[in-house]
Amino acid sequence: MHTIVLATQKGGSGKSTLVVGLALAAKQAGFTVRLIETDLQGTLSNWRRRRTADDLVVEPIYHAIDIEPRLKMLADSGLQLAIIDTAAGLSAATTAAIRHCDLCLIPARPSVADIEATASTLSVARAWKRPYSFVLNQTPIRGQRIDNAANTLAEEAAHDLTEVLARPLIVMRNDHQDSLAAGLAVSEFAPNSKSADEVRGLWQWIETRLELAATTNVRSDQVVTATDGMLHAAELSSDKTTILAS
Ligand SMILES: Nc1ncnc2c1ncn2[C@@H]1O[C@H](COP(=O)(O)OP(=O)(O)OP(=O)(O)O)[C@@H](O)[C@H]1O
Ligand SMILES: [Mg+2]
Repeated sequence: MHTIVLATQKGGSGKSTLVVGLALAAKQAGFTVRLIETDLQGTLSNWRRRRTADDLVVEPIYHAIDIEPRLKMLADSGLQLAIIDTAAGLSAATTAAIRHCDLCLIPARPSVADIEATASTLSVARAWKRPYSFVLNQTPIRGQRIDNAANTLAEEAAHDLTEVLARPLIVMRNDHQDSLAAGLAVSEFAPNSKSADEVRGLWQWIETRLELAATTNVRSDQVVTATDGMLHAAELSSDKTTILAS
């Protein structure tokens, strides 16, 4: 089973929207998918209530301690893909989700505030030596703003852009908001639209990234730095309390 987590400290960057979009894109590509909601805000559960098809389960897991055993049970049951939506901020549940994922996707709008807010999530992913990628979301169709944002993310991660930035970028389009409101994913709401193409393209990029992550060892640059080590220690102690902080 592959486990993907969408996480970033910044609210409204598109975590839940991308979770829904990617879940349906993966399902349409033939994967069995389970959505896991660690965010008490309940965006996914609300979306699921608006949905008429009963093809996807949204499973709320609010306590950090429950995440690993539940993922193991799902993997043992033969599920192919779990996608975890997290709350803004950095809670014990979010760090547990990152710790047990195969890929941490960090969405960011092309703004300084969003990009700065990726730092803590990046540190946790590195501390637990989990593969990560940024997803630039709600971008304009083109422009210098995108290039600047992409380059800043690559600098922050001290990595080559092609490795750390998922493709394609997800443009700001009304389809994303309208599909969520209708209990649909964008690939169902507007299957022939550019927005659906982008999300399907993003899923394909992720599939390739997951295969790579499964076959390569942790990279040598993903060493635990002093700061990361402190986060690591904080996670160990928060595991004991297992209380959702947000
Ligand atoms: N590519 C996009 N184009 C247009 N609107 C978008 C796009 N991505 C997300 N949105 C909209 O932006 C808003 C915030 O998105 P979303 O709720 O997915 O963010 P979030 O990171 O999950 O927020 P929170 O941190 O509150 O959980 C929603 O209204 C959503 O429909
Ligand atoms: Mg959300």
